Amino acid sequence: MGSVNIRPFLSYLFVVVLIFAGMGIIILPLLPLTERIIGGFSLLGGLIVFMVLIINIFEKYIKPVQSASRVADELVKGNYKARTYVSYFGEAGKLSNAINVLARNLQEITLQEKMQESQMRTVIDNMESGLMLIDEKGYVHLINRKFLQIFEGEPKDFMGFLYYDVLDQERIHKAVQEAFLYEEKVKDSFTISGQIERKSIEVVGAPIFNEKQVLNGAVLVFHDITELKKLEEMRKDFVANVSHELKTPITSIRGFAETLLEGAMEDIQLRRQFLEIILKEGERLQALIYDLLELSKLEKDEMRLEYQNIDLSSLVEELLPVIKQQAVKKQIDLSIKLPDTLEIVADADRLKQVFINLLNNAVNYTSDNGKVLLKVSEKLNHIEITISDTGIGIPDEAQSRIFERFYRVDRARSRNTGGTGLGLAIVKHIVEAHHGEIRLESQLEKGTTFIISLPRKPEYSKGLF
Ligand SMILES: Nc1ncnc2c1ncn2[C@@H]1O[C@H](COP(=O)(O)OP(=O)(O)OP(=O)(O)O)[C@@H](O)[C@H]1O
Ligand SMILES: [Mg+2]
Repeated sequence: MGSVNIRPFLSYLFVVVLIFAGMGIIILPLLPLTERIIGGFSLLGGLIVFMVLIINIFEKYIKPVQSASRVADELVKGNYKARTYVSYFGEAGKLSNAINVLARNLQEITLQEKMQESQMRTVIDNMESGLMLIDEKGYVHLINRKFLQIFEGEPKDFMGFLYYDVLDQERIHKAVQEAFLYEEKVKDSFTISGQIERKSIEVVGAPIFNEKQVLNGAVLVFHDITELKKLEEMRKDFVANVSHELKTPITSIRGFAETLLEGAMEDIQLRRQFLEIILKEGERLQALIYDLLELSKLEKDEMRLEYQNIDLSSLVEELLPVIKQQAVKKQIDLSIKLPDTLEIVADADRLKQVFINLLNNAVNYTSDNGKVLLKVSEKLNHIEITISDTGIGIPDEAQSRIFERFYRVDRARSRNTGGTGLGLAIVKHIVEAHHGEIRLESQLEKGTTFIISLPRKPEYSKGLF
């Protein structure tokens, strides 16, 4: 609160002193000498009374009114922190008090408004969808953080511009026009190329009306549906792949059965040959269906691991005969390096599946006389399993796709080995369900190594690798 203006007070004082001095000059010479002193004192007394009165009036009325009017000026300017004196009596006191209450209320209201505004801003900025508000002429009035993320820009690139000058997607223009034209919600989707990838965006436009139900703008909400689209594509691919994978053995079985029925049955040699093919294809079909069921079980969230204490060397002992048999056939040198005792808590059957699939691959994709090594080593809270071979290797560009369902580097070759292309997808699922990690190192014609890290107990799973 600024200082009070005392100029009017001083001028009143000056006028009163002047009047009294004038009265003294005029009246005193007219009086007899003896009464002059009394007259002079009376005038002085009168002057003092007047001065006290003026000071009183100034303090009680002029000063508070001046201060109140100054505060009112401040309030008009928007400074709601201004306050006036309150310790006055009478009407001026009431005025000061009222002005202060008014200022306090205004301050509280603006504070609440600011809080509401900042809450609203926080909500808008943290929305998972992009938001844009335009007026009836098409000028952009509001955008949020997600919007800027989607369109990769800054507020100054959009705010205050006409939407069609700053967004060149035809679908957006159409959505706005339709929202304005039909005065109802519209939905569309488009793609934009971002710095990293192409994004699929769904836009929903809705008209906004004022209290009189007159159209005065539109709000556009943008959803990033890139992930959803990818999933949809993957699902479509999966269905196409499954159908294709099933079609091949079925066509083959049917073809050979037909040929047999058409007469080949009479030839003992052909009959045997064709029936063997039919059996092999039947086995492939069975393996495929088994793997698919296994995968779908693993992919379901309710997939339960049956954790138990496992002695790793006895688990490997159990599965070794099958692999050894295959290795012997190809004269592959299969060696195992395991600590004498190594216990981990895991699902024994699933873990066996991991070993079998990886060792099978190692033997299958290694030519005769090659080497396959299974090594398990102990780390502090986890174990490391490496399965390496001196086989054909996996080309660099295929390494990132190797765990995809049905992905095979060489389709014909993998099919010949009876492969379904699902083995590694299953392995990855099992490892991840155990909160482990799997990676590979491979060089063409030199060999491949798969490395798995597994927590020794499920509770060690966090922050391990
Ligand atoms: N050790 C390896 N050396 C070279 N290539 C490999 C190796 N392991 C896997 N691959 C390649 O990865 C592909 C996918 O392997 P995956 O085990 O998922 O399927 P598969 O062996 O074809 O069939 P299956 O589902 O019966 O195991 C294989 O087709 C093969 O091309
Ligand atoms: Mg395999």
